[in-house]
Amino acid sequence: MGITILAIESSCDETSASVCRDGVVLSNIIATQKVHAQYGGVVPELASRAHLQNIVPVVAQALEAAGCNKHTLSAVAFTQSPGLLGALLVGAQFAKSMALALNIPLIGVHHMQAHVLANMVTERQPSFPFLCLTVSGGHTQIVLCKSPLEQQVVGTTIDDAAGEAFDKSAKLLGLPYPGGPLIDAYAKHGNTNRFSFPEPQIPGLDFSFSGVKTAILYFLQNAGLSQVYKPAQVASTEDQLAFIQNNLPDLCASIQHRIVSILLKKLQKASKETGIRQICLAGGVSANSYLRSQFTAMGQQLGWQTYIPPFEYCTDNAGMIAITAYYKFLAGQFIDLDAKVSAR
Ligand code: KG4
Ligand code: ZN
Repeated sequence: MGITILAIESSCDETSASVCRDGVVLSNIIATQKVHAQYGGVVPELASRAHLQNIVPVVAQALEAAGCNKHTLSAVAFTQSPGLLGALLVGAQFAKSMALALNIPLIGVHHMQAHVLANMVTERQPSFPFLCLTVSGGHTQIVLCKSPLEQQVVGTTIDDAAGEAFDKSAKLLGLPYPGGPLIDAYAKHGNTNRFSFPEPQIPGLDFSFSGVKTAILYFLQNAGLSQVYKPAQVASTEDQLAFIQNNLPDLCASIQHRIVSILLKKLQKASKETGIRQICLAGGVSANSYLRSQFTAMGQQLGWQTYIPPFEYCTDNAGMIAITAYYKFLAGQFIDLDAKVSAR
């Protein structure tokens, strides 16, 4: 029969369900909530409501695509932390109800731990120990992964996450949320060296992105154009708007180049300090095409074995939750029906 696990992810603005059997992901259904774009960021209350609407059909699709029914499940898993409290609660309550009704074990998964283990969904997998650069909208971490369930954060951001740096820069350029993928797209036609943004000098393996964001803001203000900074409406004057429009690909390429170079410099340092050359990417920002190509090139140059999850396992997805739950199942790490979710 094997170990068949249904996993649910609802920590932010993706409602996702996945079924995995014996560590192989059979389905990974993701419903992305479009409702937030008009607000320039995720609205927690709207996220919870959309999860409520999506969760039944998404779970049904995941079971069907995996060719199994709920009576063959060995356990149910859900994202327990971190994330938006109301959003997490929807997935948790649904998973608990299923575990109770089917009388099967319940597994709580840490979202960031799962992002790292997204590297275990394909046949070609890193061997332990490996380093993982996890870059998402809420986190930027270098993780030393000694075994699936033994992960140690060795570097983290002291202010914004890399995804935030992308999204906030995009906002300054007048692009809609989430701006990361748009910066990636415009940058494909731009010159990475046209504009130079400063590199932060942070000791150790930690990151900082707030300085880059401020530099971009001042740069746009000073582009010979505008005088007034209006927080709610940054690209304000006609001159500024015209400048941005005329230089958008170069601006995006230069901003992206700086964010990616900050990330890869620390990753290189972490590899040097630990002597580990099995190196992975994870998290929503690892969907960025420039990060992927620069990471691969750096790996070739330094003799690393590099790994990047397939695209659908980079941004939030339940497949990574299912894989993590599988290792937890093997280790007998189950939780009670009254287990709480946690935002942090
Ligand atoms: O991991 P994720 O889906 O959600 C969180 O757990 O935060 O990451 C979302 C982040 C957003 O900031 C989004 O702009 C960024 O990943 N992102 C990208 C790209 N695709 C998603 N950033 C840059 N380039 C991309 N292609
Ligand atoms: Zn995430």
